[in-house]
Parts: sequence; structure tokens; C-alpha cells
Amino acid sequence: MKKILDLISNEVTSAFVACGYDEKYGKVTLSNRPDLCEYQCNGAMAAAKEYKKAPFMIADEVAEKLTGNSMFSSVESVKPGFLNFKLDSGYLAEYLKEMQADTERFGCEKTENPKTIMIDYGGPNVAKPLHVGHLRSAIIGESIKRMGKFMGHNMIGDVHLGDWGLQMGLIITELKLRKPELVYFDESYTGEYPTEAPFTISELEEIYPTASGKSKEDTAYKEAAMQATFELQNGRKGYQALLSHILNVSVTDLKKNYENLNVSFELWKGESDAQPYIPDMVQKMKDDGHAYISEGALVVDVKEETDTKEIPPCMILKSDGASLYNTTDLATIVWRMQDYNPDEIIYVVDKRQELYFTQVFRCARKTGLVNEDTKLEFLGFGTMNGKDGKPFKTREGGVMRLEHLVSEINEEMYKKITDNHTMEEAEARETAKVVALSAIKYGDLSNQASKDYIFDVERFTSFEGNTGPYILYTIVRMKSILAKYKAAGNTVENAQILPAKSESEKALMLELTRFNAAMENAFAEIAPHKVCAYIYDLANAFNHFYHETKILAEEDAKVQAGYICLLELTKGILEKCIDVLGFSAPERM
Ligand code: ARG
Repeated sequence: MKKILDLISNEVTSAFVACGYDEKYGKVTLSNRPDLCEYQCNGAMAAAKEYKKAPFMIADEVAEKLTGNSMFSSVESVKPGFLNFKLDSGYLAEYLKEMQADTERFGCEKTENPKTIMIDYGGPNVAKPLHVGHLRSAIIGESIKRMGKFMGHNMIGDVHLGDWGLQMGLIITELKLRKPELVYFDESYTGEYPTEAPFTISELEEIYPTASGKSKEDTAYKEAAMQATFELQNGRKGYQALLSHILNVSVTDLKKNYENLNVSFELWKGESDAQPYIPDMVQKMKDDGHAYISEGALVVDVKEETDTKEIPPCMILKSDGASLYNTTDLATIVWRMQDYNPDEIIYVVDKRQELYFTQVFRCARKTGLVNEDTKLEFLGFGTMNGKDGKPFKTREGGVMRLEHLVSEINEEMYKKITDNHTMEEAEARETAKVVALSAIKYGDLSNQASKDYIFDVERFTSFEGNTGPYILYTIVRMKSILAKYKAAGNTVENAQILPAKSESEKALMLELTRFNAAMENAFAEIAPHKVCAYIYDLANAFNHFYHETKILAEEDAKVQAGYICLLELTKGILEKCIDVLGFSAPERM
């Protein structure tokens, strides 16, 4: 469906043209004075300069042309030269009916030019538990992916596991110390390796920090770990078998954690998957003359003339020939281009890695790893802070594990829900989980991604204000009205949305018409917070209407059915939006 602002702009533009003015002056926007009008056009002010006329004369003429137009209930020319509009209620109702008939998309059209977009998010590190630092990438990335899918793009999410590097050598070293008899350490062994891992996830999660701690105090230990890493990366069989055990055990656990967050990935590729692409990539960079040796290391210059700050060269190989985080990211671009040829790759990563990605992107472009028109986009997110304004920590001051954060919020929600209600234990637990997830996700997504924000448990879990639970509460309220309406023996089969009879009803209807533009715009700007802002306005408009209108007590059946239709449309749109944000609503709460 055409966006309502475009439809209105078209009409106003025609009027400008009919009066002899250029079409560029007919652009209409939402009113910034909702007390005076719903939409406005300031074109006459600009046209005045070109046509050397008083702006109000132009505005008068255009207003005159538009009188009687069935789209508007009022068109006013206001000095010094503004045009103010109110939409006709009948026209508005027709627009909403058309939205409602489009039961899946509510009038939001898919893009005309679908792209293949890879999105790199999550970024967990194998054998290290997920902590709150990983929360934002998962939540924001998932939402962007869902927005893109809804808009009709081919979105491919890749978790980009941190599965390459010293942490693997550390685990192997510690394991060797504890269980030297394991066949993985026997270099003369040529048989098959056991399919069962020699550790559980809890052991693994204990082994890594222990090993990491030891390596900081004991240089011989650290050296052994570096040697193990080197041997692993150079193909030592027993170590590679161990690596796949570490990966399997860890990925199973990660999947469970992400599932709890309603987050999933199309690809479970890791840094290790990029390694086979490194030698050829490096060779080509050398052959093309882009890479050169500087102080022993192999580097590519990425500074540009217009830089206002120093952008250091991108290091490709260390002086000992070892590859780096950079190298892996560049080689990852190689396989992504080769296997998926994406139009765009979006990285949802902590904003402290911005300079790093500037180097990587420039290097990829300069060395021809990507097509000229492949867009590489860095979406850096800010830090999740505690109420003290410092990075979120446990009460003891340690790094908060994601699991613990989630169960803490679940518990908080459970208390709230059982305070309000008598609900079966199982349902209360299930409901608490659903509502808690909305609190966590909305709390995060409603902030512009690049900004730091304060994770305020009390505020985020509140049923009032700009929160996830408030949005869910509004949806649950609608579900309950609908259930009561149906329980009284009514159906809405032949019912339709009617022209608004009150200010609050019209305000709700106007808010609904914004859906397609809001979605389109939020994705174009990769800004989930704009979806949050839209549904907050929509939920407020609905609740205002609800408080001023007796829906279930309405005596005129046709009017009542009209309200119910409006309510269903509002519910459908809110549900679509929260789905895009990555959470859902319970039946009751
Ligand atoms: N594993 C990394 C970390 O924990 C994040 C990975 C981000 N993605 C990337 N392509 N570098 O910091």
C-alpha cells in the first residue's frame, strides 16, 4: 500500500501544480503541532522566494484548490504561509480497511529490490560462557535480521564463533595436565578418536578460566599453551579431535542459551572456518603489491587523504607469520563473498571495535576482497551499564553470566505475576519467561544502539512506562476484550472499521496508518529503536482510546463491531512489531 504521507503529498502537489507552482513544494509531513492539525505543508514558504509572492497568497491559492477534496476534513492556510490539514474520517477508515485486508503485512510492502544481506552478530567465544557483553549483539542483530526478512530481503545471520586462538591451546594444556593418559595426547596413535567428549560443559567452563589464570602466573604454562595452539593450528590430529569436542560441547550449550533469548543463526561458522582461505588471500595481497613488510610484520596501508585522525595500517601477519583477528575477519569476507555473494555485510559488534573495522573494511576494499558495490557496514553498540553508570556487574562485582541475568529477571517477573494473580505454577513460570524476555529486549532495543544504556531492572520490568511489559500488557488487554466479545456470542465476520467518532479513536487510527512508513524507515536506518518508538506511541494511543471508550458496554452492535475491528488491527500490528523485535506476548499476565 502507498504510504499515507505519500498519498497526501500527491494530492497537495497536484494542487500546487494546478496553481502554477513547481511540484517540489507539495511535500507534506506529520504535524509538529498536533493541537492544530494532523499534517502540514510548508512549501508555500519556500515557493515564495522563487515566485516573489507573499507566502500566504500561495498558501491561500493552494488551500482554495483543495477545498472540497474528499481526502480532507479541513484545509487551512495559516499566516505567514503554512498549510494545515486534517484527514477526512471516512477516508481514514477506508485506508485502515485496506490495511486490515492485508492480514500478513498490514499494508507494508516488501522491498522492490531484495538484497542478500549477511549479518555478523552474536560473536560468542567457544568455551567461555556468554556474559552480558554478548547480550546486545544477540538482541540487536536478531532484530535487524527479522526486520530485513520482513522487508523481503534475504537475511543470513552468522554467529562468527570465536573458536581460534590461545583459548584452545589453554584448554588442551590444562586437559593434558589432568588426564595425560587420554589418547588425544599420544602422537603415535593412528586409530579413530572417541566420539564422546572427555569433558562436560561445566568442566569445560571451569577448565578455561583455570587455565587462563595459570597462564598469567606461569610462563612455562603459557608457553606450553602457545605451543599447543601452534600445533593445533598446524594440523596435529589429536588436538584437532579435541577441538571438535570443545566445539560440539560448547555450541550445544550456546544454542540452548540463544534459544532462551529467542535468537537463532542461519550459519554457525567460526573464526576457524576462515583459516583455509588465509594463505591464498595473503599471497594475492603480496602479489598485487598491497601488502608489504614493516618492522617484520606484513601490513596493508589503509589511511586516506581525508582522514582527520591517524588510521594505522592493517596488520595481516605477525613477524612470526602467525595470523591475527584481522586476518581471520578478512578471510571470512573471502568465503562470504565466494559462497553467498552478499550485497551487504552488517557487523553488530561493540563500538569499541570501530577503528578495527574501519581498518578491516578499507583493507578488504583496497585489496579487492569485495565487489565495488558490496556494502560493509559496522553497527557498533554501546555498553550496558549498571545503575552506577559502570559496566554491568554481578553484586559481587564479577562479570555477569547471561544465564544468570536472564534467570534473575525471570524470577523478578515471576514474583510480580504471582503477586497480581492466582495462576498455576507452570503457567506463571512460562508467562514470567515470556514477559522477562520482553523486559530485557525492549529495554535494550528502545535505546539507540550506539549509545550506552543503564540496565535498570526495576524500570525494565515495570508494567508502566516505555517498557516491554507495558507493550505486552496492552496486547494482553486486547486479547481479553476480544475473548469476552467472542464469549458473548459475537463474531466480526461482516464487521468493518467505521469512521472515527471521537478524538481518541481518530488519534489511534492515524497512528495505525504510520505502520508501513515506520517499518520501512526503521530498517533503512537499521534502527530497531524506531520500531520501539512506534509501538510505544501506538500502545499509548490505544490505551487512551480504551480509557475513553466503552467497548464491551457499547449498545449499538455495528459500532461495537467497528471498535473490535480496530482493536484487532492494532493487536495485529503490535504483534508483528514485537515479533520483529524478537519477543512475543503471553495469553494473560
Ligand atoms: N568474538 C568477538 C568478541 O568476543 C566478537 C566477534 C565480532 N565479529 C567479528 N566479525 N569480528 O569480542
